[in-house]
Amino acid sequence: MHPLSTINNPLFEELSQQYGTPLYVYDGGIVRRQVHNLQAAFQGVDMHIKYACKANTNLALMRLMRSLGVEVDVVSMGEMHMALLAGYSPRQITFTPSGVPFGEVREAVEAGATVNVDSLPLLEWFGQTYGSSKPCLIRLKPNVAAGGNFKIMTGHSDSKFGISVDLLDEILEIVKRYDLKIIGLHQHTGSDIKEAEAFLQAAEVIFKAALRFPDLQIIDLGGGFKVAYKPEDAVTDMQHLGQEITKGFQEFCKNYGRELQLWFEPGKYLVSECGYLLVRATVIKEDPARTFVHVDSGLNHLIRPMMYGAYHHILNVSNPEGVPHTYNVVGYICETDTFATDRTLPEVRPGDLLAFLNAGAYGFTMSSHYNARYRPAEVLIDEGKATLVRRRDTLDDLLRSQLDLA
Ligand code: LLP
Repeated sequence: MHPLSTINNPLFEELSQQYGTPLYVYDGGIVRRQVHNLQAAFQGVDMHIKYACKANTNLALMRLMRSLGVEVDVVSMGEMHMALLAGYSPRQITFTPSGVPFGEVREAVEAGATVNVDSLPLLEWFGQTYGSSKPCLIRLKPNVAAGGNFKIMTGHSDSKFGISVDLLDEILEIVKRYDLKIIGLHQHTGSDIKEAEAFLQAAEVIFKAALRFPDLQIIDLGGGFKVAYKPEDAVTDMQHLGQEITKGFQEFCKNYGRELQLWFEPGKYLVSECGYLLVRATVIKEDPARTFVHVDSGLNHLIRPMMYGAYHHILNVSNPEGVPHTYNVVGYICETDTFATDRTLPEVRPGDLLAFLNAGAYGFTMSSHYNARYRPAEVLIDEGKATLVRRRDTLDDLLRSQLDLA
């Protein structure tokens, strides 16, 4: 077994023989470990985990999450339906929209979810529509810049997300006008954040703002904890972060005069490392400039390398002891879908099975039918048993909503 993998090579081979490639494989044990680590880091406060299910909406994974006492954060009615199908009750669901049509917010409220209001116009609409009859949270933008790359930073002043904390007076004016029942303040600084300081800085902004809202029950500090994509990557030190945030939160609750709930809504931290995308090398192309390994997948299945320049570690499952060579690993889509540039791997031969690591978060959920390609099957391994939890697409899945069938 490779030190970076939690699944041994014979099992990878077996699953790929049984279900074909490309194939997403999730290790439920890693989800359990991550949930446990997060819970363990926040002792002494009433901490709730709201899984940001945009990271992975596979129902079996969401059911596993629910069985571990994790609640859920959704961003669309589609995700809301997934959460309900996974067995969540509406009161365990937070709806954190981003500039969605107000009708969608109405649907979420009517379904019984708690809404996180992300703009002044939505706050105004919420007041006009519900007054004090429905509680809500407010998403503040803390003006803190942090995250793995600019595209996934959400808390800085130029970001589209949330209501700037500089507009607190305007927020309070609307709250007062409609007698709104604000039960929580929320912020999410970004994704892939290593430094505890960034979380603490954003938390301080929220704690300070919170003193101006008398009826709060919840402080939601979002997600964004960093996991290792490269073997040598430093990650968020959860023990340290837990201690520091707990200290600050307890201090804040003392000032506030009441114990509040502390919420987090991680995606990557809970599911990134549990996932593997298994692919097969199709063609090895030795060009004068470099050697390309083509695989039977592409940006239609794992877009993170192309969209963010994200690094995903790759294992050669079939030839782990092979002589190292340097490759560009590329997909089969008619775009420049490069998974890895100048990557040194044990010699890759046509037909070799490769595993992309950290494919559990923002892998399948960001996949598409581009080039009219099928999306992969998904397998969940949990408590020693491997279960097919999504079949591979078929032509029917591509045609399902086309109306011009002759
Ligand atoms: N809460 C809110 C309001 C969010 O917008 C997000 C992520 C999360 C929580 C979860 O963040 P996480 O713990 O997963 O970092 N597709 C990108 C990440 C985009 C994240 C969008 N929002 C990627 O693959 O890196």
